[in-house]
Amino acid sequence: MKIATSTEELRSLLGTSRVDGDIHRRVALVPTMGCLHAGHARLIHKARQLADIVVVSIYVNPLQFGPHEDFARYPRNFEADKEVCDTEGADIIFHPNNLYPEDGPKITLRVRDLGDVLCGAARPGHFDGVASVVAILFHIVQPDMAVFGEKDWQQLAIIRRLVADLQLPVEIVGVETVREADGLAMSSRNRYLGDTEQEQAKSLSAALRAMQSLAASGENQGYALIAAGHSVLLAAGINPEYLEIRQADSLQGLATLEGYPARAFVAAQFGSARLIDNIPLESI
Ligand code: PAF
Repeated sequence: MKIATSTEELRSLLGTSRVDGDIHRRVALVPTMGCLHAGHARLIHKARQLADIVVVSIYVNPLQFGPHEDFARYPRNFEADKEVCDTEGADIIFHPNNLYPEDGPKITLRVRDLGDVLCGAARPGHFDGVASVVAILFHIVQPDMAVFGEKDWQQLAIIRRLVADLQLPVEIVGVETVREADGLAMSSRNRYLGDTEQEQAKSLSAALRAMQSLAASGENQGYALIAAGHSVLLAAGINPEYLEIRQADSLQGLATLEGYPARAFVAAQFGSARLIDNIPLESI
């Protein structure tokens, strides 16, 4: 496994390995902000199955953090990350110091509509920062495919739209959320949780599962499904930032499950950890 800390290094590593005689070797990129856990391991594993060359980028992107968010204290542990990448068979880690000019970026992307709802409502500019850095990473690595986790479903929907709108030749692969035994979705921010918060946080997935089974039993009215989710959260003493049902691709709000692939989305604050989760809803 090789480590590149600059765009030039990365390009020269990939330049020699991408072509093998007449054979084009497929490159998969797994973009991350480090602090890798079992969820990331699954993404790298998937990339390994699909591509000849696996690049994992590790970069805590300042552009996607608001002024009062956790950029400075976001957990960083490059030594442990290297081990995860190695174990999962990554070929290259791209670990740049900074991806932006010294005086900050003057040109960035703006995500309309999709970036203003759900997490975007509470984190203005967050998805502009995500889309901008992912576009830069795609430009540097020029991957054939890129692998993202479904835990960040809104991000995944935005990246799919990014490649469509900018006509980028990158296949986007989504990988199912990896969960703790109690249902809590794996997240780098789970390490901010104390014992009591950890106990409370599992009700996020419990609320979503309650909505999913109610939908599977035939309920297709959004208000009834949301009420079911709220009652699970309320019992755990959680007042969510949002609990919503939306179309899976466009992220438009839905009053009933009829006609569109739908998902339920939830976000809540537990001490200093803001956690999110989502689940597909299917009515019979
Ligand atoms: O999901 C993440 O870790 C980040 O948002 C990403 C996609 C690496 C962009 O910084």
